[in-house]
Amino acid sequence: HKHIFGIDQLSEQDITYILRTAQSFKEISNRPIKKVPTLRGKTIINLFFEPSTRTRMSFEIAAKRMSADTFNIAASTSSTTKGETLIDTAANLQAMKPDIIVVRHSSSGAPQLLAKHIDASVVNAGDGTHQHPSQGLLDMLTVVEHKGRIEGLKIAIIGDIAHSRVAMSDIIGFSRMGAMVSVAGPGTFMPPGLASLGARVCSSVEEALDGADVVMALRIQLERQNDSLIPSLREYARCYGINNERIKNAADDAIVMHPGPINRGVELNPEVADGPRSVILDQVTNGVAVRMALLYLVLGGAKVIDGQGEN
Ligand code: CP
Repeated sequence: HKHIFGIDQLSEQDITYILRTAQSFKEISNRPIKKVPTLRGKTIINLFFEPSTRTRMSFEIAAKRMSADTFNIAASTSSTTKGETLIDTAANLQAMKPDIIVVRHSSSGAPQLLAKHIDASVVNAGDGTHQHPSQGLLDMLTVVEHKGRIEGLKIAIIGDIAHSRVAMSDIIGFSRMGAMVSVAGPGTFMPPGLASLGARVCSSVEEALDGADVVMALRIQLERQNDSLIPSLREYARCYGINNERIKNAADDAIVMHPGPINRGVELNPEVADGPRSVILDQVTNGVAVRMALLYLVLGGAKVIDGQGEN
C-alpha cells in the first residue's frame, strides 16, 4: 500500500506481515547504536494539526532509527494560522519533494484529501473520529506479544467509542484477526453501526468484561463533545471506570491497555493503570516498532534498502 488511511484497507495477511516486520525491527531499539541505514536519503514530514505526544514522537523516533530525515510541522506554528488551506499546504510541501507525509487532523478524511494532491505517501496518524491505524496495529502487536495470538481472544473496549478513532481501528483490526470484540459505555458514547464492524454491543461494562482476555479503556474525548458531557466525569468513573473491583470480571490473566493520554481516575484508576496487569507502556514501546514497519513498507519494503527504493 502506498498510503495508510485505515485498518479497513488492510487484509488479515497485510496485518500479519506488518506485525512480523515490526517484530523484526524491534531489536534495533535495544542496540547500543539505535540506527540502521534502511531509509537513508528519505524525507519524512510529520504534519500535526492536533496535539500529540506518543504518535508524533514515535513516528519521529521510528524515522530517525532508520536514518530518514524528519521534519515536524505543528499547526500552531504553520501558515494554516494565517488561513492557508490543507490543499495549499499539501501543494507547498509536495514542492519540497518529501517521500512520506504523516498527518494528524481533526477532520475525518483529511489524509485521503491530502493524498489526492501530493505524490508522497500519506500515513494517517489519526483523523477526526475516523481511524488511527498505527495505534490499532501497535495494540495488536502488544496483544500478540502478551497472549501469543489474537484469534479467539475476548477483547473488551470500554468508554467513549463514538468519538474514538482508536476504537474504530481496534474494532476493525481485532475482529479481522479473529478476536471477539465486546464494547460498552454510556449510550451517549455509542455510535450506530458497531455490530456491522464486528463488535458485540453490551448493556453493561460488567457484561463486556466477563471473561475478557484484554481490557481496553478509552479516554473520554473532551475536545470532541458537542454538548455538555453526559454522564459527568464523576458519574462516568463510578459507573464505567476500570478499577480493581470491576476488573475482577475479566479473566484472571487479563491484560489492561489504554492508548493514552489517560484521564486518571476517570476511565482508569491509577491502581489498575499502574498495576501488574497494565501493558500500557509496552504499547508505547511497540508504537516505535510498528511505525518503523509502516514507514519502511509504504516506501516499498526491501526495495528501499541501499537506495534502490522507488516512491
Ligand atoms: N495514543 C495517541 O495517539 O497518543 P497521542 O495523542 O499522544 O499521540
